[in-house]
Amino acid sequence: MLPIIEYSLSYSAPTGAERDALSALTLTPDARWHERMDHARFVVTALHEGTRVGVGIVHTSVTAPTMVPSPMELGGMFVHPAYRRLGIRQHMAEARLTYALSMGGTPITVIDNRNQASWGYYERSARWTPEREYTGYVTGLPMTIWVSTESSWYRTAMGLNPLVPAQPNTVLPHDASPQRPLALGPDQDNAVPA
Ligand SMILES: CC(C)(COP(=O)(O)OP(=O)(O)OC[C@H]1O[C@@H](n2cnc3c(N)ncnc32)[C@H](O)[C@@H]1OP(=O)(O)O)[C@@H](O)C(=O)NCCC(=O)NCCS
Repeated sequence: MLPIIEYSLSYSAPTGAERDALSALTLTPDARWHERMDHARFVVTALHEGTRVGVGIVHTSVTAPTMVPSPMELGGMFVHPAYRRLGIRQHMAEARLTYALSMGGTPITVIDNRNQASWGYYERSARWTPEREYTGYVTGLPMTIWVSTESSWYRTAMGLNPLVPAQPNTVLPHDASPQRPLALGPDQDNAVPA
C-alpha cells in the first residue's frame, strides 16, 4: 500500500530545530544549502506519519547567471530515497511554482545537466523551458537555468498576453490572505451617498 503523504507549508526561513530536521534529510547540507535556507520565502515539507520525508523551497539567493527580472529560485528539493517515485517531488514542485508565480517574481530553477531525475521532469513539463546553459562554479560542468513559461517575463518575450488562467488550489502567503473588512464607523453604515 502506498504511504499517505501530508504536506505542510511555511512562509519563512527555517531556523533552529526545524532547520536541523530539514538539513538532516539531505546528504550534504553544505554552506550553499544553508545560504538558500537563509533566504527561503516558501518551504514545502512532505511528511509521512509525522516524519519529514521531503523538502522543497523557493528562495532569493540566486547565484546562477540568469537574465530574468526578479528571479525566485525553486531549489533545495530533496526526497528521502525510500520515498522516491511516488510523485512527492511532483507535488512539492507544483506548490513552489504556484507560490513563486503568485508573488510576482520570475520562477527559475537550476539543474545540473547530469541529473537525470530532474532533467527528464523539466524537459517533459510544458510549464518550464531552458533559459540558458552555463558552467557550474563549483562543478565546472554544464548547468541549465530553466524558467517558468507562465512567468510574465517569458510570456511577454513570446509576444503573449502576460495573463495566465488562475491555478486551482492557489497557495497564498498569509500576508496576502483576504483581510476581514474594516468595521464601519457610526456615521458610515447607511446607504445615503455623500
Ligand atoms: C529528484 C528527486 C527530488 C525526485 O523526487 P521524486 O519524489 O522521486 O520524484 P517524483 O516521484 O515526483 O517523479 C516525477 C517524475 O520524475 C521522473 N523521475 C523521478 N526520478 C527519476 C529518476 N531517478 N530517473 C528518471 N526519471 C525520474 C519520472 O518521470 C517521474 O515520474 P514516474 O515515476 O511516473 O516515472 C529525488 O530523486 C531526489 O531527492 N534526488 C536527490 C536530490 C536531487 O537531485 N534534487 C533535485 C535537484 S535539482
